[in-house]
Amino acid sequence: MDITQENAVPKAPERGITPTDLHPDTLAIRTGHHRTPFGEHSEPIVTTSSFVFGSAAEAAAKFSGEADGFIYSRFTNPTVAAFQERLAAMEGAESAIGTASGMSAILATVLSLLSSGDHIVASKSMFGSTVNLFQKLLPRFGITTTWVTLGDPDHWQAAVTSKTRMLFVETPTNPLTELADITALADVAHNADALLVVDNCFCTSALQQPIKLGADLVIHSATKFLDGQGRCVGGAVVGPSRIIDDAIFGYMRSCGPSMSPFNAWVFLKGLETLGLRMQRHCDNAEAIAAWLVTHPKVTRVHYPGLDTHPQHALACRQQARFGPVMSFEIDGGQPEAWQLIDQLNIMSITANLGDAKTTVTHPYTTTHARMDEADRLAVGVNPSLIRLAIGLEHDADLINDLEQALNA
Ligand SMILES: Cc1ncc(COP(=O)(O)O)c(C=O)c1O
Repeated sequence: MDITQENAVPKAPERGITPTDLHPDTLAIRTGHHRTPFGEHSEPIVTTSSFVFGSAAEAAAKFSGEADGFIYSRFTNPTVAAFQERLAAMEGAESAIGTASGMSAILATVLSLLSSGDHIVASKSMFGSTVNLFQKLLPRFGITTTWVTLGDPDHWQAAVTSKTRMLFVETPTNPLTELADITALADVAHNADALLVVDNCFCTSALQQPIKLGADLVIHSATKFLDGQGRCVGGAVVGPSRIIDDAIFGYMRSCGPSMSPFNAWVFLKGLETLGLRMQRHCDNAEAIAAWLVTHPKVTRVHYPGLDTHPQHALACRQQARFGPVMSFEIDGGQPEAWQLIDQLNIMSITANLGDAKTTVTHPYTTTHARMDEADRLAVGVNPSLIRLAIGLEHDADLINDLEQALNA
């Protein structure tokens, strides 16, 4: 694959932390902060549009990439750089780049690495906006996608052509929590000289490290669990320096879908508690899924932690735990699903997920509503489906809330 060399991401000076020696929970707290001469203990938010140079020659050297250093916050900022360095360390990757949203991370990846005539293989079992981007926008720029069955690597293999440059997968998927075998898809991609890109939004690096399983690039919607309290919108692409620092950084510099320093700071602090929070999210989700399967009005529960989930064995192999998100179907259709949602007292009706507050969503009429109806139904997003992104409240209160709503 031909990746155009652009200016490299400037690196802040090293402070002696060797990421390879430390557990991700320690990296989440200790990497990325390069203390200023003030000696601050907590990471500072550097809110400035541009940076000052000591001389015209220094400015020229930094602009040309001959000298490291910060230039302009559209593409270089110390707080954003701290977030990037920390996230890369936690994913076990060389580099990361922060973006304005998860969708802009996906767009940056596709537009910086693919050209007109190139081909993607992906599954429609993923977030509705990603399907829309690939299906409706990218063809206008000559980039086409073949849609395959998420969990069948042979189907992915059969869809590969001489033009295939990227396999894009979300695992577990939004909202049905289906899984793809990352190692098997990495083999398919690499045999075709293509890249495997994994959207790691539901698990985060705390539960799944796709690069260690063979993926080339990892996408994050930082909006979700990296923030963890539903405050900011942001995203990231993580991977090797030859892709991130060269091709994607060049795109970010020219096109500008940057992460703000304030948002980077919120995410940076969110990373410090990510491992801890994900454990509690998973404890709660496992308890709720086990309870939901026992309720007579619930016809189906989609959660990788249940041994009835078709890919439970893969989830045990590929993920540290089963994740905070699940969906379930109730007896009836849209009116019954909406009625149940409206009866909930604690859970918030909102499209976001990854919050300390449990959120409930009706994907068919919200997050996936812009997908064609036939596509929605084909991937299982039907009117009786409800998605829960389990938060950090006490599990007994959440179960009581569901029980009173289901019995109402
Ligand atoms: C799996 C997944 N990927 C990407 C995105 C897009 O992220 P953002 O909303 O930060 O653009 C979302 C948003 O819900 C998502 O669920």
